[in-house]
Amino acid sequence: MGILDKKVVLVTGTGGGMGRVAALVFAREGARIVGVDIQDDGNAETAELVHRAGGEMTNIAPVDLTDQEQVHRMADAAAGAYGGLDVVYNNAAMQRFGAMPDFSVEDWHATVAGELDIPFFVSKYTWPHLVRRGGGVIINVASEAGLIAGSTPPMVAHTAANAGVIGMTRQLALEGAPHNIRAVAISPGPVLTPASDRDLGDNQTMRDAITSKTLLKRFARPEEIIELAAFLASDRASFITGANYPVDGGASAW
Ligand SMILES: NC(=O)c1ccc[n+]([C@@H]2O[C@H](COP(=O)([O-])OP(=O)(O)OC[C@H]3O[C@@H](n4cnc5c(N)ncnc54)[C@H](O)[C@@H]3O)[C@@H](O)[C@H]2O)c1
Repeated sequence: MGILDKKVVLVTGTGGGMGRVAALVFAREGARIVGVDIQDDGNAETAELVHRAGGEMTNIAPVDLTDQEQVHRMADAAAGAYGGLDVVYNNAAMQRFGAMPDFSVEDWHATVAGELDIPFFVSKYTWPHLVRRGGGVIINVASEAGLIAGSTPPMVAHTAANAGVIGMTRQLALEGAPHNIRAVAISPGPVLTPASDRDLGDNQTMRDAITSKTLLKRFARPEEIIELAAFLASDRASFITGANYPVDGGASAW
């Protein structure tokens, strides 16, 4: 018996990284997964991994979640896959980095689209399905960058967009409460995923610069974020809404 038995969970960004781990952990806890990504191959691979582990996942890809029409169609298809939706895990994001004042307006808009539009569009178009179900949970993956500034790399749009995600989560909680919809944010610190591990390679100076703000002086493993997400998605967290949970090794504590 898992803590998400009988739940239908929409996970965005299941093509790799933490979204893939979320699909695997939520399925382990008994959820049926609808996984969405812009990458078809990566998403199919995740569905295969979930099936091999004995879980269920419907793969919807490719979907560009910055395009509201595509999100609208995806939300209806996701709710149709298993007859409704209980949990929306807003994990997908895309961001660009750069220093002031040269960070371009184009990069600014791309980051706001990739980090703020995506969870808004997905929440907007899944909302009627959650209401129809009698309630549910929206979990927004924000970042420690929504709470503190960061120098490695410089991140003006990333900080602004993630502060926006945390603010939006409070508002979704307020407007969702009458419908029995909870909304919660998780703000990870640095997480080592296969992609970031590969990109950092043997650049120890960069790795140390990234982890130095954590008290634990290391990256998180994806599971250290996702186990909290599974709890927050479950009925065990039934009195939790409107809150933001830093999972950042203490980075925002000092
Ligand atoms: N990795 C970290 O250190 C870290 C730290 C703090 C917060 N986060 C947040 O956690 C979440 C997951 O991070 P990750 O490191 O696994 O990211 P990632 O880049 O490895 O994965 C993101 C996934 O989203 C998908 N995606 C991106 N743009 C999309 C679009 N327009 N439409 C559909 N799918 C799209 C990608 O294809 C990818 O599969 C993100 O919201 C990220 O901002 C990550």
